[in-house]
Amino acid sequence: MTNKISWAHPGREEVHIQWGLEKDQLTDVSMKVIGSLPFLRYSQEIKKTLTGPLENLPIPSGSTSFALIWREVILRMQNKWKAPIPDGDLCHCRKVSGEKVARAIVYGAHSLDELRLRTSANTGCGTCLNDAQSIIDYYLVKK
Ligand code: FES
Repeated sequence: MTNKISWAHPGREEVHIQWGLEKDQLTDVSMKVIGSLPFLRYSQEIKKTLTGPLENLPIPSGSTSFALIWREVILRMQNKWKAPIPDGDLCHCRKVSGEKVARAIVYGAHSLDELRLRTSANTGCGTCLNDAQSIIDYYLVKK
């Protein structure tokens, strides 16, 4: 059985990866990566680690956008990605989706103030503050 997932931020980075599993070992890993040359180089280094047991893949550390993208991809491959991102709007006052908030975090909004500046989320009634902070904390592995 072939497994596949994609991570994409159109116009910036994209990762499309597929793999097989044989007795929990990765087989036939192939990937298509789109992005800047540094991202392609980073992804080539990650690809070298995509071998052996799926459960034992190293998870990239750090808070660069490249690390956050690949951390999400690998955790999703392992079915361990549990980011508290709502399907619809995270911020109802400003109609900002959870997905938009998540992408802003990946690309550097690592505090509530930065998130407010980049997305306008949490600039109304304030009700979404804890939800926004939870997503930041999840991406930056603060919990
Ligand atoms: S719901 Fe986000 S500021 Fe009101």
